[in-house]
Amino acid sequence: MSIKSMDIRVEELRKKREQVMLGGGADKLEKHRASGKMTARERVDGLVDKGSFMETGLFAQHRATLFGMAGKETAADGVITGSAAIHGRLVHVASQDFTVLGGSAGELHSIKVSEAMMQSLKTGSPFVFINDSGGARVQEGIDSLSGYGKVFYTNVMLSGAVPQISLICGPCAGGAAYSPALTDFIIQTRKAQMFITGPQVIKQVTGETVTADDLGGPDAHMAKSGVIHFIAEDDKDALLLCQKLLSFLPSNNLEDPPEIPGEYSCEPNPELADIVPVDGKKGYDIRDVILRIIDNGDFLEVQAGHAPNIVIGFARICGRSIGIIANQPAVQAGVLDIDASSKGARFIRFCNAFNIPLVTLVDVPGFLPGVQQEYGGIIRHGAKMLFAYSAATVPKITVILRKAYGGAYLAMCCKDLGADRSYAWPTAEIAVMGAEGAAEIVFRKEISEATDKAAKRKEMIDQYREAFSNPFVAAGRRLVDDIIEPADTRKVIAQALEYLHTKRELRPGKKHGLMPL
Ligand code: HXC
Repeated sequence: MSIKSMDIRVEELRKKREQVMLGGGADKLEKHRASGKMTARERVDGLVDKGSFMETGLFAQHRATLFGMAGKETAADGVITGSAAIHGRLVHVASQDFTVLGGSAGELHSIKVSEAMMQSLKTGSPFVFINDSGGARVQEGIDSLSGYGKVFYTNVMLSGAVPQISLICGPCAGGAAYSPALTDFIIQTRKAQMFITGPQVIKQVTGETVTADDLGGPDAHMAKSGVIHFIAEDDKDALLLCQKLLSFLPSNNLEDPPEIPGEYSCEPNPELADIVPVDGKKGYDIRDVILRIIDNGDFLEVQAGHAPNIVIGFARICGRSIGIIANQPAVQAGVLDIDASSKGARFIRFCNAFNIPLVTLVDVPGFLPGVQQEYGGIIRHGAKMLFAYSAATVPKITVILRKAYGGAYLAMCCKDLGADRSYAWPTAEIAVMGAEGAAEIVFRKEISEATDKAAKRKEMIDQYREAFSNPFVAAGRRLVDDIIEPADTRKVIAQALEYLHTKRELRPGKKHGLMPL
Protein backbone atom coordinates (compact mmCIF):
# COMPACT_ATOMS: atom_id res chain seq x y z
CA MET A 1 0.00 0.00 0.00
CA SER A 2 1.45 3.35 -1.00
CA ILE A 3 1.86 6.07 1.61
CA LYS A 4 -0.68 8.86 1.12
CA SER A 5 0.84 12.26 0.32
CA MET A 6 0.29 15.29 2.54
CA ASP A 7 -1.95 16.83 -0.13
CA ILE A 8 -4.23 13.80 -0.08
CA ARG A 9 -4.33 13.76 3.71
CA VAL A 10 -5.17 17.45 3.85
CA GLU A 11 -7.89 16.88 1.28
CA GLU A 12 -9.30 14.02 3.37
CA LEU A 13 -9.19 16.19 6.47
CA ARG A 14 -11.13 18.91 4.69
CA LYS A 15 -13.76 16.47 3.48
CA LYS A 16 -14.11 14.96 6.92
CA ARG A 17 -14.38 18.40 8.47
CA GLU A 18 -17.07 19.42 5.98
CA GLN A 19 -19.00 16.25 6.72
CA VAL A 20 -18.85 16.76 10.50
CA MET A 21 -19.94 20.36 10.04
CA LEU A 22 -23.23 19.03 8.66
CA GLY A 23 -24.12 17.57 12.05
CA GLY A 24 -26.87 15.00 11.64
CA GLY A 25 -26.98 15.69 7.88
CA ALA A 26 -28.43 18.25 5.51
CA ASP A 27 -31.96 16.84 5.77
CA LYS A 28 -32.06 17.04 9.53
CA LEU A 29 -30.56 20.53 9.54
CA GLU A 30 -33.26 21.65 7.13
CA LYS A 31 -36.00 20.08 9.25
CA HIS A 32 -34.55 21.80 12.30
CA ARG A 33 -34.50 25.19 10.57
CA ALA A 34 -38.02 24.61 9.29
CA SER A 35 -39.18 24.30 12.89
CA GLY A 36 -38.13 27.93 13.36
CA LYS A 37 -34.91 27.20 15.23
CA MET A 38 -31.30 28.06 14.48
CA THR A 39 -28.88 25.16 14.23
CA ALA A 40 -26.29 24.54 16.93
CA ARG A 41 -23.54 26.11 14.84
CA GLU A 42 -25.68 29.08 13.81
CA ARG A 43 -26.33 29.74 17.50
CA VAL A 44 -22.62 29.79 18.29
CA ASP A 45 -21.94 32.05 15.30
CA GLY A 46 -24.75 34.38 16.35
CA LEU A 47 -23.50 34.57 19.92
CA VAL A 48 -19.80 35.24 19.55
CA ASP A 49 -17.67 37.85 17.79
CA LYS A 50 -17.24 37.11 14.10
CA GLY A 51 -14.24 34.88 13.43
CA SER A 52 -13.43 34.39 17.14
CA PHE A 53 -14.69 30.82 17.61
CA MET A 54 -11.97 28.20 18.06
CA GLU A 55 -13.54 24.77 18.18
CA THR A 56 -12.31 21.85 20.25
CA GLY A 57 -13.37 18.22 19.93
CA LEU A 58 -14.78 18.45 16.42
CA PHE A 59 -13.83 14.85 15.73
CA ALA A 60 -14.98 13.43 19.05
CA GLN A 61 -16.92 10.17 18.68
CA HIS A 62 -18.87 7.95 21.00
CA ARG A 63 -17.56 4.47 21.66
CA ALA A 64 -20.91 2.73 22.23
CA THR A 65 -21.59 -0.52 20.44
CA LEU A 66 -25.05 -1.59 21.56
CA PHE A 67 -28.51 -0.66 20.23
CA GLY A 68 -27.35 0.19 16.71
CA MET A 69 -24.54 2.46 17.82
CA ALA A 70 -21.65 0.35 16.47
CA GLY A 71 -20.00 2.29 13.66
CA LYS A 72 -22.63 5.05 13.81
CA GLU A 73 -21.12 8.48 13.18
CA THR A 74 -22.20 11.13 15.64
CA ALA A 75 -20.83 14.43 14.38
CA ALA A 76 -18.84 16.16 17.15
CA ASP A 77 -20.77 13.70 19.33
CA GLY A 78 -23.71 16.05 19.26
CA VAL A 79 -22.21 19.11 20.91
CA ILE A 80 -20.11 21.96 19.57
CA THR A 81 -17.57 23.25 22.09
CA GLY A 82 -14.81 25.82 22.09
CA SER A 83 -13.41 29.22 23.02
CA ALA A 84 -14.54 32.54 21.59
CA ALA A 85 -15.02 36.20 22.40
CA ILE A 86 -18.17 38.18 23.07
CA HIS A 87 -17.63 41.91 22.64
CA GLY A 88 -13.91 41.21 22.84
CA ARG A 89 -14.07 39.23 26.10
CA LEU A 90 -13.15 35.55 26.34
CA VAL A 91 -15.96 33.03 26.85
CA HIS A 92 -16.33 29.28 26.53
CA VAL A 93 -19.31 27.78 24.80
CA ALA A 94 -21.07 24.45 24.37
CA SER A 95 -23.98 24.14 21.93
CA GLN A 96 -25.95 20.92 21.65
CA ASP A 97 -26.82 19.72 18.16
CA PHE A 98 -30.35 18.33 18.11
CA THR A 99 -29.78 16.88 14.64
CA VAL A 100 -27.35 14.35 16.14
CA LEU A 101 -29.40 11.83 18.11
CA GLY A 102 -31.61 14.60 19.44
CA GLY A 103 -28.68 16.38 21.10
CA SER A 104 -28.67 13.54 23.59
CA ALA A 105 -25.79 13.49 26.03
CA GLY A 106 -23.55 10.46 25.76
CA GLU A 107 -20.24 9.90 27.51
CA LEU A 108 -18.03 11.80 25.05
CA HIS A 109 -20.62 14.54 24.59
CA SER A 110 -20.55 15.27 28.31
CA ILE A 111 -16.77 14.98 28.55
CA LYS A 112 -16.54 17.67 25.87
CA VAL A 113 -18.94 19.91 27.79
CA SER A 114 -17.03 19.40 31.06
CA GLU A 115 -13.72 20.15 29.36
CA ALA A 116 -15.07 23.41 27.92
CA MET A 117 -16.28 24.29 31.39
CA MET A 118 -12.87 23.56 32.88
CA GLN A 119 -11.34 25.87 30.28
CA SER A 120 -13.68 28.56 31.59
CA LEU A 121 -12.51 27.94 35.11
CA LYS A 122 -8.81 27.88 34.23
CA THR A 123 -9.00 31.05 32.16
CA GLY A 124 -11.48 32.90 34.36
CA SER A 125 -14.05 33.31 31.60
CA PRO A 126 -17.85 32.86 31.55
CA PHE A 127 -19.38 29.61 30.37
CA VAL A 128 -22.41 29.63 28.08
CA PHE A 129 -24.26 26.35 27.52
CA ILE A 130 -26.81 26.32 24.69
CA ASN A 131 -29.15 23.41 25.45
CA ASP A 132 -31.23 21.50 22.93
CA SER A 133 -31.31 17.89 24.07
CA GLY A 134 -33.44 14.84 24.73
CA GLY A 135 -31.39 14.18 27.86
CA ALA A 136 -29.20 11.19 28.64
CA ARG A 137 -28.36 9.19 25.49
CA VAL A 138 -30.40 6.13 26.16
CA GLN A 139 -28.25 3.80 24.02
CA GLU A 140 -25.19 4.52 26.18
CA GLY A 141 -26.86 3.60 29.44
CA ILE A 142 -24.89 4.38 32.58
CA ASP A 143 -22.01 5.88 30.58
CA SER A 144 -24.33 8.75 29.70
CA LEU A 145 -25.38 9.09 33.34
CA SER A 146 -21.73 9.20 34.33
CA GLY A 147 -21.23 11.94 31.74
CA TYR A 148 -24.02 13.99 33.28
CA GLY A 149 -22.45 13.47 36.69
CA LYS A 150 -19.24 15.03 35.41
CA VAL A 151 -21.13 18.00 33.98
CA PHE A 152 -23.01 18.61 37.23
CA TYR A 153 -19.82 18.33 39.28
CA THR A 154 -18.06 20.80 37.02
CA ASN A 155 -21.03 23.18 37.17
CA VAL A 156 -20.56 23.27 40.90
CA MET A 157 -16.78 23.78 40.56
CA LEU A 158 -17.48 26.83 38.40
CA SER A 159 -20.24 28.18 40.62
CA GLY A 160 -19.22 31.50 42.12
CA ALA A 161 -15.90 31.49 40.22
CA VAL A 162 -17.10 32.31 36.69
CA PRO A 163 -20.59 33.29 35.50
CA GLN A 164 -22.52 30.41 33.97
CA ILE A 165 -25.43 31.08 31.63
CA SER A 166 -27.77 28.45 30.15
CA LEU A 167 -29.81 29.00 27.03
CA ILE A 168 -32.71 26.62 26.59
CA CYS A 169 -33.43 26.57 22.88
CA GLY A 170 -35.18 23.22 22.43
CA PRO A 171 -36.28 20.29 24.52
CA CYS A 172 -34.38 19.96 27.73
CA ALA A 173 -35.54 16.71 29.20
CA GLY A 174 -34.41 14.55 32.09
CA GLY A 175 -30.80 15.10 33.08
CA ALA A 176 -30.57 17.93 30.55
CA ALA A 177 -32.59 20.13 32.90
CA TYR A 178 -30.25 19.78 35.86
CA SER A 179 -27.14 21.36 34.42
CA PRO A 180 -29.03 24.60 33.68
CA ALA A 181 -30.46 24.47 37.17
CA LEU A 182 -26.92 24.55 38.55
CA THR A 183 -26.00 27.64 36.54
CA ASP A 184 -26.56 31.30 37.41
CA PHE A 185 -29.05 32.35 34.76
CA ILE A 186 -31.41 30.48 32.46
CA ILE A 187 -32.77 32.03 29.27
CA GLN A 188 -35.57 29.97 27.71
CA THR A 189 -36.99 30.52 24.24
CA ARG A 190 -40.66 30.20 23.35
CA LYS A 191 -39.86 27.05 21.35
CA ALA A 192 -38.29 25.21 24.30
CA GLN A 193 -39.53 23.04 27.12
CA MET A 194 -37.75 21.87 30.24
CA PHE A 195 -38.84 19.06 32.49
CA ILE A 196 -37.46 16.19 34.48
CA THR A 197 -40.23 13.88 33.29
CA GLY A 198 -42.42 14.64 30.31
CA PRO A 199 -46.23 14.61 29.95
CA GLN A 200 -46.38 10.89 29.04
CA VAL A 201 -44.53 9.74 32.13
CA ILE A 202 -46.57 12.07 34.30
CA LYS A 203 -49.75 10.61 32.83
CA GLN A 204 -48.56 7.10 33.65
CA VAL A 205 -47.36 7.87 37.16
CA THR A 206 -49.83 10.40 38.53
CA GLY A 207 -52.64 10.28 35.97
CA GLU A 208 -52.36 14.03 35.37
CA THR A 209 -52.86 15.34 31.85
CA VAL A 210 -50.73 18.27 30.79
CA THR A 211 -49.27 19.54 27.54
CA ALA A 212 -45.50 19.83 27.14
CA ASP A 213 -45.80 23.60 26.97
CA ASP A 214 -48.03 23.93 30.01
CA LEU A 215 -45.62 21.70 31.88
CA GLY A 216 -42.26 23.06 30.84
CA GLY A 217 -42.75 26.04 28.56
CA PRO A 218 -41.21 29.40 29.40
CA ASP A 219 -44.36 30.90 30.91
CA ALA A 220 -44.70 27.97 33.31
CA HIS A 221 -41.04 28.18 34.33
CA MET A 222 -41.14 31.92 34.78
CA ALA A 223 -44.42 32.46 36.59
CA LYS A 224 -44.92 29.16 38.38
CA SER A 225 -41.68 27.32 39.05
CA GLY A 226 -39.34 30.32 39.03
CA VAL A 227 -36.71 28.08 37.38
CA ILE A 228 -35.83 30.49 34.58
CA HIS A 229 -34.68 34.10 34.58
CA PHE A 230 -35.47 35.37 31.09
CA ILE A 231 -37.94 34.51 28.33
CA ALA A 232 -36.62 34.98 24.81
CA GLU A 233 -38.96 35.17 21.83
CA ASP A 234 -36.63 33.02 19.71
CA ASP A 235 -33.01 31.88 19.41
CA LYS A 236 -31.79 35.23 18.13
CA ASP A 237 -33.43 37.04 21.03
CA ALA A 238 -31.85 34.56 23.47
CA LEU A 239 -28.39 35.20 22.04
CA LEU A 240 -28.86 38.97 22.34
CA LEU A 241 -30.09 38.63 25.91
CA CYS A 242 -27.07 36.51 26.77
CA GLN A 243 -24.71 39.11 25.31
CA LYS A 244 -26.45 41.89 27.22
CA LEU A 245 -26.39 39.98 30.48
CA LEU A 246 -22.68 39.29 30.13
CA SER A 247 -22.03 43.00 29.55
CA PHE A 248 -22.96 43.71 33.19
CA LEU A 249 -20.79 40.94 34.62
CA PRO A 250 -17.11 40.49 35.33
CA SER A 251 -15.45 37.52 33.64
CA ASN A 252 -14.76 35.92 37.00
CA ASN A 253 -14.98 36.43 40.74
CA LEU A 254 -11.52 38.03 40.95
CA GLU A 255 -12.43 40.87 38.63
CA ASP A 256 -14.66 43.90 38.93
CA PRO A 257 -17.50 44.23 36.43
CA PRO A 258 -16.56 46.16 33.28
CA GLU A 259 -17.01 49.91 33.56
CA ILE A 260 -18.39 52.01 30.73
CA PRO A 261 -16.29 55.17 30.67
CA GLY A 262 -18.03 58.44 29.88
CA GLU A 263 -19.35 61.75 31.17
CA TYR A 264 -22.40 61.10 33.31
CA SER A 265 -24.85 63.68 34.55
CA CYS A 266 -26.17 63.49 38.09
CA GLU A 267 -28.38 66.56 37.89
CA PRO A 268 -31.35 66.50 40.31
CA ASN A 269 -34.42 64.82 38.82
CA PRO A 270 -37.56 66.54 40.17
CA GLU A 271 -39.81 63.86 38.60
CA LEU A 272 -38.79 61.43 41.32
CA ALA A 273 -40.71 63.35 43.97
CA ASP A 274 -43.95 62.98 42.03
CA ILE A 275 -43.78 59.22 41.43
CA VAL A 276 -44.16 57.98 44.98
CA PRO A 277 -47.55 58.93 46.51
CA VAL A 278 -47.25 60.23 50.07
CA ASP A 279 -50.37 58.24 50.87
CA GLY A 280 -48.93 54.85 51.78
CA LYS A 281 -52.09 53.09 50.63
CA LYS A 282 -51.48 54.09 47.03
CA GLY A 283 -49.38 51.95 44.74
CA TYR A 284 -46.94 52.95 42.02
CA ASP A 285 -44.50 51.21 39.74
CA ILE A 286 -41.05 51.10 41.34
CA ARG A 287 -39.57 50.75 37.85
CA ASP A 288 -40.49 54.41 37.28
CA VAL A 289 -38.07 55.23 40.10
CA ILE A 290 -35.39 52.79 38.95
CA LEU A 291 -35.40 54.13 35.39
CA ARG A 292 -34.77 57.66 36.67
CA ILE A 293 -31.73 56.85 38.77
CA ILE A 294 -29.79 54.56 36.42
CA ASP A 295 -27.77 55.32 33.29
CA ASN A 296 -29.88 55.84 30.16
CA GLY A 297 -32.89 54.03 31.64
CA ASP A 298 -31.07 50.80 30.76
CA PHE A 299 -32.43 48.19 33.19
CA LEU A 300 -32.06 44.47 32.59
CA GLU A 301 -34.82 43.08 34.77
CA VAL A 302 -34.30 39.51 35.96
CA GLN A 303 -37.27 37.17 36.49
CA ALA A 304 -39.70 39.94 35.57
CA GLY A 305 -42.57 37.45 35.43
CA HIS A 306 -41.90 35.74 38.75
CA ALA A 307 -42.80 37.11 42.18
CA PRO A 308 -43.46 40.55 40.69
CA ASN A 309 -43.84 42.04 44.17
CA ILE A 310 -40.05 42.35 44.16
CA VAL A 311 -38.06 43.76 41.26
CA ILE A 312 -34.46 42.70 40.66
CA GLY A 313 -32.06 43.39 37.85
CA PHE A 314 -28.85 44.85 36.52
CA ALA A 315 -28.19 48.45 35.63
CA ARG A 316 -25.35 50.96 35.77
CA ILE A 317 -24.85 54.19 37.62
CA CYS A 318 -22.14 56.42 36.15
CA GLY A 319 -20.89 53.47 34.12
CA ARG A 320 -20.62 51.04 37.04
CA SER A 321 -22.65 47.82 37.18
CA ILE A 322 -25.06 47.49 40.07
CA GLY A 323 -27.62 44.94 41.16
CA ILE A 324 -30.96 46.49 42.10
CA ILE A 325 -33.34 44.90 44.57
CA ALA A 326 -36.57 46.84 45.03
CA ASN A 327 -39.99 46.23 46.50
CA GLN A 328 -42.78 46.71 43.97
CA PRO A 329 -45.68 48.60 45.59
CA ALA A 330 -47.75 48.09 42.41
CA VAL A 331 -48.08 44.36 43.24
CA GLN A 332 -49.47 43.25 46.61
CA ALA A 333 -48.18 46.54 48.03
CA GLY A 334 -44.64 45.20 47.62
CA VAL A 335 -45.02 42.68 50.43
CA LEU A 336 -42.29 40.08 50.92
CA ASP A 337 -43.55 36.53 50.51
CA ILE A 338 -41.89 33.16 49.93
CA ASP A 339 -41.24 33.59 46.23
CA ALA A 340 -40.10 37.21 46.52
CA SER A 341 -37.67 36.28 49.29
CA SER A 342 -36.16 33.40 47.33
CA LYS A 343 -35.95 35.51 44.20
CA GLY A 344 -34.29 38.42 45.99
CA ALA A 345 -31.88 36.30 48.02
CA ARG A 346 -30.58 34.34 45.06
CA PHE A 347 -29.89 37.54 43.16
CA ILE A 348 -28.09 39.09 46.12
CA ARG A 349 -25.88 35.98 46.32
CA PHE A 350 -25.03 36.21 42.64
CA CYS A 351 -24.11 39.90 42.85
CA ASN A 352 -21.98 39.33 45.91
CA ALA A 353 -20.13 36.42 44.29
CA PHE A 354 -19.27 38.60 41.30
CA ASN A 355 -18.40 41.90 42.96
CA ILE A 356 -21.51 43.76 41.86
CA PRO A 357 -22.61 46.43 44.38
CA LEU A 358 -26.14 46.13 45.72
CA VAL A 359 -28.58 49.03 45.57
CA THR A 360 -31.74 48.34 47.57
CA LEU A 361 -34.88 50.45 47.20
CA VAL A 362 -37.29 49.93 50.07
CA ASP A 363 -41.05 50.38 50.19
CA VAL A 364 -42.31 47.34 52.03
CA PRO A 365 -45.28 46.84 54.35
CA GLY A 366 -43.90 43.62 55.84
CA PHE A 367 -43.79 39.88 55.32
CA LEU A 368 -47.03 38.43 53.95
CA PRO A 369 -49.14 36.94 56.73
CA GLY A 370 -51.16 33.76 56.12
CA VAL A 371 -51.48 30.08 56.81
CA GLN A 372 -50.19 29.10 53.36
CA GLN A 373 -47.16 31.31 53.79
CA GLU A 374 -46.37 29.82 57.19
CA TYR A 375 -46.91 26.25 56.01
CA GLY A 376 -44.86 27.02 52.92
CA GLY A 377 -41.98 28.06 55.13
CA ILE A 378 -41.92 31.86 55.01
CA ILE A 379 -39.70 31.71 58.08
CA ARG A 380 -37.12 29.65 56.19
CA HIS A 381 -37.48 31.51 52.91
CA GLY A 382 -37.69 34.98 54.41
CA ALA A 383 -34.53 34.19 56.36
CA LYS A 384 -32.75 33.80 53.03
CA MET A 385 -32.96 37.55 52.58
CA LEU A 386 -31.49 38.16 56.03
CA PHE A 387 -28.74 35.65 55.34
CA ALA A 388 -27.91 36.82 51.84
CA TYR A 389 -27.64 40.51 52.77
CA SER A 390 -25.72 39.83 55.97
CA ALA A 391 -23.27 37.58 54.16
CA ALA A 392 -22.75 39.99 51.26
CA THR A 393 -19.51 41.95 51.42
CA VAL A 394 -19.91 44.03 48.26
CA PRO A 395 -20.86 47.70 48.69
CA LYS A 396 -24.46 47.83 49.95
CA ILE A 397 -26.47 51.02 49.52
CA THR A 398 -30.05 51.24 50.74
CA VAL A 399 -32.61 53.93 49.99
CA ILE A 400 -35.88 53.87 51.93
CA LEU A 401 -38.55 55.58 49.88
CA ARG A 402 -41.65 55.05 51.96
CA LYS A 403 -42.69 52.10 54.11
CA ALA A 404 -40.06 50.07 55.91
CA TYR A 405 -41.90 48.04 58.48
CA GLY A 406 -40.84 45.38 60.90
CA GLY A 407 -38.91 42.31 59.80
CA ALA A 408 -39.19 43.32 56.17
CA TYR A 409 -37.40 46.60 56.98
CA LEU A 410 -34.57 44.51 58.37
CA ALA A 411 -34.68 42.07 55.43
CA MET A 412 -34.29 44.88 52.88
CA CYS A 413 -30.69 45.58 53.86
CA CYS A 414 -30.94 47.86 56.84
CA LYS A 415 -27.79 49.20 58.47
CA ASP A 416 -27.81 46.44 61.05
CA LEU A 417 -27.53 43.88 58.24
CA GLY A 418 -24.43 45.65 57.04
CA ALA A 419 -25.66 48.37 54.67
CA ASP A 420 -22.67 50.63 54.10
CA ARG A 421 -24.94 53.58 53.43
CA SER A 422 -28.60 53.88 54.27
CA TYR A 423 -30.60 56.86 53.01
CA ALA A 424 -34.22 57.80 53.55
CA TRP A 425 -36.55 60.02 51.61
CA PRO A 426 -38.60 62.46 53.72
CA THR A 427 -41.60 60.15 53.10
CA ALA A 428 -39.87 57.19 54.74
CA GLU A 429 -41.80 55.48 57.54
CA ILE A 430 -39.42 53.27 59.46
CA ALA A 431 -41.40 51.52 62.12
CA VAL A 432 -42.08 48.20 63.74
CA MET A 433 -45.41 48.17 61.90
CA GLY A 434 -47.86 50.51 60.18
CA ALA A 435 -49.47 53.19 62.38
CA GLU A 436 -52.96 51.65 61.96
CA GLY A 437 -51.91 48.25 63.25
CA ALA A 438 -49.70 49.69 65.98
CA ALA A 439 -52.48 51.96 67.32
CA GLU A 440 -54.83 48.95 67.60
CA ILE A 441 -52.28 47.14 69.75
CA VAL A 442 -50.87 49.94 71.88
CA PHE A 443 -54.05 51.98 72.37
CA ARG A 444 -56.67 49.22 72.26
CA LYS A 445 -57.96 50.09 75.71
CA GLU A 446 -58.18 53.86 75.05
CA ILE A 447 -60.00 53.26 71.75
CA SER A 448 -62.50 50.77 73.17
CA GLU A 449 -63.31 53.05 76.13
CA ALA A 450 -63.77 56.19 74.01
CA THR A 451 -67.29 57.39 73.25
CA ASP A 452 -66.27 58.36 69.71
CA LYS A 453 -64.15 55.32 68.90
CA ALA A 454 -63.43 56.33 65.30
CA ALA A 455 -62.16 59.76 66.35
CA LYS A 456 -60.05 58.25 69.11
CA ARG A 457 -58.61 55.66 66.75
CA LYS A 458 -57.65 58.39 64.28
CA GLU A 459 -56.10 60.46 67.07
CA MET A 460 -54.04 57.51 68.27
CA ILE A 461 -52.96 56.56 64.74
CA ASP A 462 -51.83 60.14 64.13
CA GLN A 463 -49.98 60.14 67.44
CA TYR A 464 -48.13 56.92 66.59
CA ARG A 465 -47.38 58.08 63.07
CA GLU A 466 -46.05 61.38 64.36
CA ALA A 467 -43.78 59.56 66.79
CA PHE A 468 -42.36 56.79 64.61
CA SER A 469 -43.52 56.91 61.02
CA ASN A 470 -40.90 59.32 59.79
CA PRO A 471 -37.21 59.04 59.05
CA PHE A 472 -35.99 61.39 61.77
CA VAL A 473 -36.22 58.90 64.62
CA ALA A 474 -34.22 56.38 62.58
CA ALA A 475 -31.72 59.06 61.57
CA GLY A 476 -31.40 60.03 65.24
CA ARG A 477 -30.46 56.43 66.07
CA ARG A 478 -27.98 56.30 63.11
CA LEU A 479 -30.16 53.70 61.42
CA VAL A 480 -30.09 55.91 58.37
CA ASP A 481 -27.06 57.97 57.39
CA ASP A 482 -28.95 60.82 55.83
CA ILE A 483 -32.38 61.98 54.77
CA ILE A 484 -32.20 63.00 51.14
CA GLU A 485 -34.41 64.78 48.68
CA PRO A 486 -35.85 62.34 46.10
CA ALA A 487 -34.47 64.42 43.23
CA ASP A 488 -30.91 63.82 44.46
CA THR A 489 -31.15 60.02 44.69
CA ARG A 490 -29.00 59.25 41.65
CA LYS A 491 -26.32 61.71 42.72
CA VAL A 492 -26.21 60.32 46.26
CA ILE A 493 -25.99 56.69 45.11
CA ALA A 494 -23.35 57.55 42.51
CA GLN A 495 -21.20 59.28 45.12
CA ALA A 496 -21.62 56.45 47.62
CA LEU A 497 -20.64 53.91 44.93
CA GLU A 498 -17.56 55.97 44.18
CA TYR A 499 -16.49 56.11 47.83
CA LEU A 500 -17.25 52.44 48.42
CA HIS A 501 -15.44 51.26 45.33
CA THR A 502 -12.42 50.09 47.32
CA LYS A 503 -14.49 48.48 50.09
CA ARG A 504 -12.85 45.41 51.63
CA GLU A 505 -14.59 43.38 54.27
CA LEU A 506 -13.11 40.28 55.84
CA ARG A 507 -15.20 37.55 57.42
CA PRO A 508 -14.18 34.67 59.69
CA GLY A 509 -12.61 31.80 57.73
CA LYS A 510 -14.92 28.79 57.38
CA LYS A 511 -15.87 26.20 54.82
CA HIS A 512 -19.16 27.93 54.11
CA GLY A 513 -22.10 29.36 55.97
CA LEU A 514 -25.39 27.50 56.11
CA MET A 515 -27.93 29.54 54.25
CA PRO A 516 -31.50 28.39 54.95
CA LEU A 517 -32.53 26.52 51.79
C1 HXC B 1 -31.08 8.94 22.41
C2 HXC B 1 -32.62 10.37 21.54
C3 HXC B 1 -32.95 10.82 22.84
C4 HXC B 1 -32.26 10.26 23.95
C5 HXC B 1 -34.18 11.88 21.43
N1 HXC B 1 -33.42 11.05 20.70
N2 HXC B 1 -33.92 11.75 22.73
N3 HXC B 1 -31.69 9.45 21.33
N4 HXC B 1 -31.33 9.32 23.67
N5 HXC B 1 -32.49 10.64 25.19
C6 HXC B 1 -33.38 10.89 19.25
C7 HXC B 1 -34.65 10.25 18.71
O1 HXC B 1 -34.56 8.85 18.77
C8 HXC B 1 -34.61 10.76 17.28
O2 HXC B 1 -33.66 9.98 16.55
C9 HXC B 1 -34.04 12.12 17.40
O3 HXC B 1 -33.36 12.16 18.66
C10 HXC B 1 -35.09 13.21 17.42
O4 HXC B 1 -36.08 12.87 18.36
P1 HXC B 1 -37.65 12.96 18.03
O5 HXC B 1 -38.35 12.23 19.09
O6 HXC B 1 -37.89 12.52 16.63
O7 HXC B 1 -37.88 14.51 18.10
P2 HXC B 1 -39.09 15.29 18.74
O8 HXC B 1 -40.38 14.76 18.25
O9 HXC B 1 -38.80 16.73 18.48
O10 HXC B 1 -39.02 15.03 20.31
C11 HXC B 1 -37.93 15.44 21.06
C12 HXC B 1 -38.00 14.89 22.50
C13 HXC B 1 -38.21 13.33 22.42
C14 HXC B 1 -39.16 15.54 23.23
C15 HXC B 1 -36.70 15.25 23.19
O11 HXC B 1 -37.25 12.79 21.53
C16 HXC B 1 -38.08 12.69 23.76
O12 HXC B 1 -39.03 12.69 24.53
N6 HXC B 1 -36.91 12.08 24.02
C17 HXC B 1 -36.68 11.36 25.28
C18 HXC B 1 -36.63 12.32 26.41
C19 HXC B 1 -36.30 11.65 27.74
O13 HXC B 1 -37.10 10.86 28.24
N7 HXC B 1 -35.14 11.93 28.25
C20 HXC B 1 -34.73 11.39 29.49
C21 HXC B 1 -33.54 10.50 29.28
S1 HXC B 1 -33.08 9.88 30.86
P3 HXC B 1 -33.81 9.71 15.00
O14 HXC B 1 -32.69 8.78 14.70
O15 HXC B 1 -35.16 9.13 14.80
O16 HXC B 1 -33.66 11.03 14.35
C22 HXC B 1 -32.22 11.11 31.59
C23 HXC B 1 -31.85 10.80 33.01
C24 HXC B 1 -30.65 11.54 33.42
O17 HXC B 1 -31.95 12.12 31.07
C25 HXC B 1 -30.73 11.84 34.88
C26 HXC B 1 -29.56 12.60 35.37
C27 HXC B 1 -29.88 13.28 36.68
